[in-house]
This record gives sequence, C-alpha cells and structure tokens, in this order.
Amino acid sequence: MTKVAHRVAVLGLLGVTALAVSAQSNKGKNWPWMDAKLSPERRADLVLEQMTLDEKISLLHGNGMARQKNLPPEIQAVQDQSNGGAGFVLGVPRLGIPLIQMSDAAYGVRQSAENGRYSTALPSNVGSAASWDPEEACAYGKLIGDELRMQGYNTTLGGGTNLTRDPRNGRTFEYMGEDPVLAGTMVGARIRCEGGEHVISDIKHYAFNDQESGRQEVDAQIGERAGRESDLLAFEIGVKTGHPDAVMCSYNGVNGDYACENTWLLHDVLKAEWKFPGFVMSDWEGTHSTVKASHAGLDQEQPLDLFYGAELKKAVEDGEVPQAELNDHVRRVLWAEFASGIIDDPVVRGVVDPVHGFEVSQKVEEGSAVLLRNEHATLPIDAQKVRSIAVIGFNADMGMISGGGSAQVDAPGQVGGTPWRKHIWFPTSPLKAIRAQAKDATVSFSSGERIEDAVARAKTADVAIVFAWQFEAEGNDLENLSLPGNQDKLIEAVAKANPHTVVVLETGTAATMPWLDSTAAVLEAWYGGSKGADAVARLLFGEVNPSGKLPMTFPQSTDELPRTAIAQPPPPVKNGVLSFKVDYNIEGAAVGYKWYESQKKPVLFPFGFGLSYTTFKYSVLKVGHDGESVTLTVTNTGARAGAEVAEVYASLPSSAGEPWKRLIAYRKVELAPGESRTVTMDVDPIYESIWDVAAKRWTRPGGEYKVMAGPSSAETPLEATFTVR
Ligand code: BGC
Repeated sequence: MTKVAHRVAVLGLLGVTALAVSAQSNKGKNWPWMDAKLSPERRADLVLEQMTLDEKISLLHGNGMARQKNLPPEIQAVQDQSNGGAGFVLGVPRLGIPLIQMSDAAYGVRQSAENGRYSTALPSNVGSAASWDPEEACAYGKLIGDELRMQGYNTTLGGGTNLTRDPRNGRTFEYMGEDPVLAGTMVGARIRCEGGEHVISDIKHYAFNDQESGRQEVDAQIGERAGRESDLLAFEIGVKTGHPDAVMCSYNGVNGDYACENTWLLHDVLKAEWKFPGFVMSDWEGTHSTVKASHAGLDQEQPLDLFYGAELKKAVEDGEVPQAELNDHVRRVLWAEFASGIIDDPVVRGVVDPVHGFEVSQKVEEGSAVLLRNEHATLPIDAQKVRSIAVIGFNADMGMISGGGSAQVDAPGQVGGTPWRKHIWFPTSPLKAIRAQAKDATVSFSSGERIEDAVARAKTADVAIVFAWQFEAEGNDLENLSLPGNQDKLIEAVAKANPHTVVVLETGTAATMPWLDSTAAVLEAWYGGSKGADAVARLLFGEVNPSGKLPMTFPQSTDELPRTAIAQPPPPVKNGVLSFKVDYNIEGAAVGYKWYESQKKPVLFPFGFGLSYTTFKYSVLKVGHDGESVTLTVTNTGARAGAEVAEVYASLPSSAGEPWKRLIAYRKVELAPGESRTVTMDVDPIYESIWDVAAKRWTRPGGEYKVMAGPSSAETPLEATFTVR
C-alpha cells in the first residue's frame, strides 16, 4: 500500500474527519484552561481531562506534508488545512486547541516559493556559530520566529545542534560546529529568542545524526561517557538555556536502537534527567514502532500516522500502551502549546518585512565571516587607491550559493518548488557590491569557467577576488573537502598571475586549500544569506572589521579525520533496518580540535581561529572561586575599532584521561583603538566535568586544572590554574 493510501485507510478508521474543521476563535470562551495566570502544566491537565481518546490520538501524529491534491473528499478536507509546510497536526476546535502548523526553518522559513510567500535567508547556521555572539544568535531566532508567524506557521523545525564529528557531513551548514559548549550556547540563544516570538520552538536532530550517508540505516556506536561529553552536552546546554518546546529525534540508530525509540536518549536522559517538559516528535518517517517508541518516550509521529494513528489507538485499547503513558504524550504537546504562547497569542498572518530581514541578515553575515589569511595587510582594499579589480567566480556576477535540502530558503524571483539538490543562488551579486564600493576603479568579471580568461583579467588588475563555493544539502555527504569542479586549479592559476589574490569562500563546512600559500588573503563567508554580497564587500573594503572565528577545525586533509571515509550502507539498502555501524568511539568525546590535539596532528586552521584588521593583546587571567568564573583583559592594540572573541579553555587533571583542552567560556568584546576591557565570564561546572557513568552524574575529578585563554584553540598566551579537592 502506498503511504497516502495507507493513510487514507488509517484516517478513515480513526474517523478524524469529524475533527477536520478549522480552529475557531477562543475569544469569549470561559474554559478554565484559558486562564493565562495558570501554569502551562495546569492548563494542559485541565484540557486533557476533557479529551476523548480520538482527540488525544489526533495530537500525536502529523497529517502529511504540504498540500496534497485529488484525495478522497474527507481526506482532502484534512489536507486542505495544511499551511503548506513540512507538517501539521490537527487541533481540537471544540476545546480551543489550534492546529500545529510546522515549517522547516533552519536559516529561514522554507517553501515560500510554492506558497507564493517570501522569506529572508539568514547566513547558514554554521556561519551564525562563527559569530560566537549569542546576541546575534538571538536576533537570528527572533527574525525566523517573526517570519514564521507572518506566514501562518506556529511551529519551527529549526534548531540544528548535531556536532561536526566529520566535516564531510552534508548538513554541517545547518549545525553549529564541533564544540558542545559553543554549539549548545549558540543554539540555546537562537531557540530562546525564536520561541519568544510565540512559536513552538524546536531542537534537532536528537542525537548522533552526524552523517547523512545511510542516515536511516546507520547505527551510531558511542559510549555513555563519550556521548554525554560531546553531542549530548551540546543538546543538554541547548535544552537548558534555550527551553525548546519540542525535540526532534533523529533518523539513525544509537547503540542498537533507533533514536526515536531509544529509551536511554528519550526517557532516561532527556525527560528523566534533564526534565524536558515538552514533546518529542520524530524526524520525517523516523518512527519505527508503536509500543516500543511510546514506551521509550516518543510523543508524536511525523509526518503521518503509520504508527501513532489507529495502531496507537489499538495499543491503548489493548492495554499495551497504558493510559498514563498516552496522557503523558498528550500532556506534553498541550504543555508546549500553552508554554510557547500559540494559544494565548494565535498567529495572525502578515507581510514579511524584507527590509528588516536584509538588515538582520547582513549584520549576522558581517559578524560571522572569518578572515583566515591576510598577508601584507592586503585587506582591507583601499577604495581610494585601487584602480582595477578582477572579480572571478562562477555566478559571482549574479549571486551567492545557499544550502539545500529541507533547510533551503527560496530565493526572490524563484518560481515553484525547490528540488532537494538544486543549487539556489541568492540574487546578492558580489560583482555589483564590489562595484558599489570601488566607484573609481575598473571592475572586470570572469566566471572562471575558462581559466585562461580569468588569468588574463587577473594579470591586468591591481587585485583579483575569486568567489569560490561548495554546495551542501541534506541526504548526501561530501566525498572530500575539495572545492568542486575546476576551482582549485582556477585559484592556483589566478594567484600565480596576480600576487594580490583574495579568495572568498562560500562553503557550509571546512575546505582544503592546496593553493593557500600562493594567495594573499582568504575570507570564509559561509553561505551568506539574503545580503551576503553587501556584507562581504563591506568586509573586503574595511567598512566592517572581520570578527568571526572558526566554529570547526579546518583540517589539512581528510586523511587527518578520525575516519578516512564516511561509512556507507551496504547494498541493497533496506529501509527501516539498522544495517551498518559507524564507530564514534574512535574519537569519542574528542570531537574536532580535541581529536587533532590528542593525536598531535597539525591542522590548516584551528578551531576558534580568525583574524581582524586590528590586533589584540591578552593580559591578566584570573580564575574565580573554585573555577566557576574567569576574568581577563583584552586590549585593542591596533588603529581600528574591532571585536575580539576571547576564548577560554581548560585541561583536566591527568586522572580524567582526556589529553586535550576544552572550551569552557567565550565572550565577544568590542573595542575602540587602544581600549582595554576586563571581562568576567561564568563557567558552568559541567563544562569542566567528566560524566561519571557509575554514579550517573557530572563530576570534576580532583586535582589541578589548567585554564588557558587567548584568540584561538591553538594560541592561548594566558594560563592559570585552580585545584579541585
Ligand atoms: C529532515 C528534518 C526536517 C524534516 C521535515 C527531514 O528530512 O531531516 O530536519 O525538519 O525533514 O522537512
């Protein structure tokens, strides 16, 4: 039976058509649960008491993806209530419970083209992480929350938090880098502010969904301690600081059980230990059972009702799923609806403000781009002095690349839906933006498809700027970190022809750079979003001083990674069966820079690295009481204003058996020329802890802790110690 046919049958069985009416206004209704002074817990309980079994079941599954057509009339009536997003859940109109309308929203609201709407594209999530600025992450989330509501959605599917265990993971651009403290705090800030707009907020994909190859068949192997100190720490911080209303469990298996029916992940860690009060929804078709998933803690199936429709109803009637367990699932969904504010403040559609979106997007990009190389102060380019510039790169005359898959934001002017892997270039033209900066210079263009043409233009120009890109999309990993097509050769040739060659990278992950030594400057711009070109031009010409730092290590080559290749599913691929393993115990908790440090492997650019047009000096590191705070002074020793991310690391006593440093605090500090600032940062003791498997708690082993501070993980001029007894 096809999925839709199956669904037709299931929905018929459930008689959900009786529920298929639009949500009504709750105004003037005297339901006790509409008293906003009561706690979300109490309000959820009050509604729950009134619900029939069918109504309860209806909150626990989706009803298909964007609008389907030509279905039998009763099913069509349900479908027609979709707002055109990735999923929707029927409400209970007789009790004033609205529909849950969900949209993907990794770096902006998805599916605007097919719905005839407009969304801002923010820079990729990994770019946002590169800002190391929770305030910027907050602005990011707030904008998305606002645009979701304008477009009729009350639930986001944003909040990607998976760690960059392997930079070849095709969704690296949707996540926050390789460090759990950076990823967790940045995603927490985004989620808090997105949810603050009164949408059901979300964190995903829980957990260890760190590769796309065979993502529904791969069984991630990870020990409890290593898992708690890496990916799960990022989620723990994200959940505790962002307070998401929903958690999306991931496609993959973890230690033998699918994540969406994994008692350890869902029940023991997320709900029992972290006390997460909201609901767990499955990734799309990531539900694999009814009773097992329900017992493990899956609350809602998406996007259909293959396991959580008639099957769940039957399991409840047969006593296989206890009423109390069913009620817990329902209560969590209701809690999320009250806590997020979608009931008290129902969505009112409006017009997305593109101008405001441009402003936010540009500002995020300006704070996120990372200056990786700047020989002989090639940058910033002096607009008064430069006479000729060659702009080189495929499509660099018209746009900048964006990330694909379910994260894809549609570009202005785009017609119809977006195929999963189509390269979408946002009409933010580097050529135009550079011409606008260098008004008195001759600016020529070559697409670089013919290397000779690019070289000829580079030779006669004062400066050559090459825009290079790497496309990424959900569902596929990268084979390696090389730039696709002829781009490595192109850069090499242009750099040979012009010693003032600047490379702007539009990538969603690390890139290898065989040409690095021959270039003058490299700026990592990530996927730049709706205003990427203007932001990059302002950075190149010094209107803005770069301040981003790498949220992931750039390795010298893929040979240095814990696994030489990404594990692939054995043919034939069997959907819904865990058929192969990936061993994350190789690096364990030592993800990213911790791996390279413990293996003593040199890297191309270290975690936390990024240059500025000014210089900074670090002084006077003090560790506060019992290692729970650190204080240091940063001084701008150059002639330009700039922002510096001060990074603080710690290494644990040797008894911990973790021979690497770990990030424990960071702060982005804006400084005028000559200005000094002393900043104190709180350190959550769990950032200095190991996970004690036997005692099931965080613990700081006794002994001496070394605290190190500086501009990157590889440069920590300040050192201090504290002792835990
Ligand atoms: C992705 C999720 C996404 C969902 C709905 C899945 O393929 O893994 O991140 O939210 O689709 O579009």
